[in-house]
Amino acid sequence: MCGIVAYVGEREALPVIIKGLKRLEYRGYDSAGVALINGELQVFKKKGKVTDLETQLNEQELKSNIGMGHTRWATHGEPNDTNAHPHYSLDKKLAIIHNGIIENYASLKQELISKGHEFISETDSEVLVHFIEDIKANNNCTLVEAVRLALTKIIGAYAIVIMSQDDTNTLIAARKGSPLVIGLGKEEFFLASDATPIIEYTNEVVYLNDHEIAVIENNGLKIKNTEDTPMTPYIQTLDMELEAIEKGGYEHFMLKEIFEQPRSVLDCMRGRLSATDARLTLGGIREYAGALENAERLIIVACGTSWHAGLVAEYFFEEFCRLPVEVEYASEFRYRNPVIKEGDVVIAISQSGETADTLAAIELARSRGAIILGVCNVVGSSIARASHEGSYTHAGPEIGVASTKAFTAQLTVLFMIALRMAQRKGTITESKFREMLVEMENIPNKIEKALKLNDQIEYISDLFKDKSNFLYLGRGYNFPVALEGALKLKEISYIHAEGYPAAEMKHGPIALIDEEMPVVFIATRDSSYEKVVSNIQEVKARKGKVIAIVTEGDKLINQMAEFVIEIPATNEALMPLLSVIPLQLLSYHIAVMRDCNVDQPRNLAKSVTVE
Ligand code: F6R
Repeated sequence: MCGIVAYVGEREALPVIIKGLKRLEYRGYDSAGVALINGELQVFKKKGKVTDLETQLNEQELKSNIGMGHTRWATHGEPNDTNAHPHYSLDKKLAIIHNGIIENYASLKQELISKGHEFISETDSEVLVHFIEDIKANNNCTLVEAVRLALTKIIGAYAIVIMSQDDTNTLIAARKGSPLVIGLGKEEFFLASDATPIIEYTNEVVYLNDHEIAVIENNGLKIKNTEDTPMTPYIQTLDMELEAIEKGGYEHFMLKEIFEQPRSVLDCMRGRLSATDARLTLGGIREYAGALENAERLIIVACGTSWHAGLVAEYFFEEFCRLPVEVEYASEFRYRNPVIKEGDVVIAISQSGETADTLAAIELARSRGAIILGVCNVVGSSIARASHEGSYTHAGPEIGVASTKAFTAQLTVLFMIALRMAQRKGTITESKFREMLVEMENIPNKIEKALKLNDQIEYISDLFKDKSNFLYLGRGYNFPVALEGALKLKEISYIHAEGYPAAEMKHGPIALIDEEMPVVFIATRDSSYEKVVSNIQEVKARKGKVIAIVTEGDKLINQMAEFVIEIPATNEALMPLLSVIPLQLLSYHIAVMRDCNVDQPRNLAKSVTVE
């Protein structure tokens, strides 16, 4: 994880960096630090949030037109001032910021210690800057060459930026496995882990590729690879508005993102789905559409919330395409010896497009002949680029660490892929196809309606906020939603929660139920409705407190449950897009009432770029 940002140009670097770090704080918030050239190469760093560092820096007179900053999610070494980045070289003439993990740092460290290097921190990153310093001294070469030589010997993942006291207008950056974007302004340059710190200054960007080194000096950018071959920068123009990355009047990003869902789902369908014309076009899946159509099985890999979207997609592909599907945790898949046949199709789902396990899983599958289709939110992200083809979710930047609008956008894209494939395969009738398009087009309005339940959900949250455990139960399409509801509650309110298929309750979890246990049922009117009603009765018989998400107008469950939350009716397959909304709101309000940091929950980071 970790967020990195750097600047060189005419402006004061510090405000640009601090603002950028705040935008990147979702990537980690254990500690923060900056390096500036203020007469000499100076480093300031502190445990805690970027604002803590900012307060400390405000007390000093710091002027520099070049600088870099880092917000950390600890991997090696506990979060403290010393382990915070940037890290100095031994002679303090170089400083580094690093996102990633240097796997062979321990052996390099031993070697450097034997040469007289002393280390202040416990980090792998400090080892890297000392290693570069050592190579430069021994080879009597330029700093860029020393960086290049060092990177050829490094095992692991990195996005790094290096500053030197001897080259006060130069930034050197490199990446392998961790993202890095270069913003091209007018006689100024920006570097960041994603485009959010850059977008208010320029929308011209270059995404650095793995094994590339960028050298920004004398107002110019040069890129080469670690084999010393010059590369031509590919400049892209980003289509992202500044408002999209600000809170826009909401108390938290998470709430803003929950309320953005009618819009983000619509954006996701825009230009792709038209019920009037009975048309579904996925511009990103053309060349490999045939491969998906003819595939004998589909493997979906993802982590966390994206994995839950994958579980829903399993039902889509089975129901509409009659295609066998396996949904895998990317972290497990990559360490098994999975059976992959030439022509198997793997769909990788990832909001950030940077999740290390998902990236590694698709690299493994690709090396064995699979076709990879990416479903990512972040344009130009590593997973999007490592895929053969794919579809972006177009949900806009998701800043809150708990994923909300990305989930519903993922469901929308996966639904469209499945439906389009079903049409090509002839496994869906034309009338069913049209009916599903119409229903999908109605979803944004229905999400809008579900969001009107906010006050009721806030009221219920207040009654349950002090509970220590929650159970979430659902069946069929609503089972992955139960998992997602439980995950949302756990991660932002720190209440223990479990999601189960409702019928599985009898095989163990029912033992947990007593008058203290809130049980959230997703009990909308679908093919398993009657069965879920029986499950509710089983919980009531053991005095559990039932909060039920039901379809508008449901009378039966109203008589059994303590609380019912009524959401609009829709087709069973599309219900997760609606039934997840009250669960997102429930976790949000409970977390706020428990005084938790909703947008930056403890121990978590938005993008998990380490395994
Ligand atoms: C949960 C959450 C995580 C992510 C997971 C995968 O709210 O945000 O579980 O879903 O880390 O991240 P992406 O989708 O970026 O690959």
